[in-house]
Amino acid sequence: MEIEEVAAAEQVVTPWEVSAPDGVIDYDKLVDRFGCQLIDAAIVDRIAHLTLCPPHRFLRRGIFFAHRDLNRILDLYEAGEKFYLYTGRGPSSESLHLGHLIPFMFTKYLQDAFKVPLVIQLTDDEKFLWKNLTIAECKRLARENAKDIIACGFDVERTFIFTDLNYVGGAFYENMLEVAKRVTYNNLRGILGITPEDHIGKVSFPPVQAAPSFPSSFPHLFPGNDQLRCLIPCAIDQDPYFRMTRDVAPKIGFQKPSLIESRFFPALQGESTKMSASDPNSAIYVTDSSKQIKAKVNKYAFSGGQASVELHRKLGANLDVDVPIKYLNFFLEDDDELDHIKKEYKEGRMLTGEVKQRLIAVLSELVARHQRARAQVTEEMVDAFMAVRPLPNMFG
Ligand code: TRP
Repeated sequence: MEIEEVAAAEQVVTPWEVSAPDGVIDYDKLVDRFGCQLIDAAIVDRIAHLTLCPPHRFLRRGIFFAHRDLNRILDLYEAGEKFYLYTGRGPSSESLHLGHLIPFMFTKYLQDAFKVPLVIQLTDDEKFLWKNLTIAECKRLARENAKDIIACGFDVERTFIFTDLNYVGGAFYENMLEVAKRVTYNNLRGILGITPEDHIGKVSFPPVQAAPSFPSSFPHLFPGNDQLRCLIPCAIDQDPYFRMTRDVAPKIGFQKPSLIESRFFPALQGESTKMSASDPNSAIYVTDSSKQIKAKVNKYAFSGGQASVELHRKLGANLDVDVPIKYLNFFLEDDDELDHIKKEYKEGRMLTGEVKQRLIAVLSELVARHQRARAQVTEEMVDAFMAVRPLPNMFG
């Protein structure tokens, strides 16, 4: 997902292009145009009540902010019916940045709270088609990325990770065909913005991302349970794939997957700039040292503070554009401390340097913890998560 600064009059959000006229995504407009629903306080309370777990900060703070048919999943869960989770990643780079971790951190919380199985799709095929990478390189990146994903703490008893290049075939391929037969080129053009000049790999791929939404794609996990519901946590740029999937589902006798969708994670330089793999200074990577984190935050994190201390004491910070505050909103767990910092900073009593110092501590801790966890992930563990096997205790 990339945010591009363009002069276009319309914002564009597809799985491979995110851009807005002034660089700032209008999420209300997006939800309206896509036809999904906003997550309100009642849903957050309901999730807390059903799971007996405190809601994740990404829910409390509106970071996962939109959904499709989430209430249906919750109704059925309340009535004792389980579901499974499905998420994924396109392995296009060696090391992940913080934005990449967000859906996985949230999915880990959902898995623990609801005690349900999870399938994770690594779309090495998608990245081969969209990026200038060899198949061998895509496969290698998928395996490397799997280690970072495992380091997020997933339970091997309830989690199946697969790469498309290894797993696609059999029942999964049958479902791809069922989908492909019911989507026209014009449907795809409307939903995904594919043009006649695009190569046909881009036309053939969407059924691959659709298929994991259907339990029969995993006969080793859900045999005879074709109506099991699926909940997909993802960033909202993936919504078009699943709009297509939901259109097709009833036509082939399956349930429509439900979705829970997040906002985008901003680049260090601000919401209206691009977090790009080619500019290491635009993001914090999970491989960064605490020294690098400190240097990047101090040098590049866009500040909403005033130009001089006197002015700042008088006017206070503009929190709407301040990147340290946005990052703390994602990663500082303590609500009271966050509120306190926001208030003090906004009213000029706290300076940008002090807010950045707190952010550096929070990110260094998070990244160090991730690095420790990742160092523990062995090749054998990757094989264990990827083994095509039943998960006998997956609802336990
Ligand atoms: N297309 C996604 C990407 O490029 C990867 C993906 C596959 C995914 N299936 C998914 C993401 C399901 C979220 C949910 O990163």
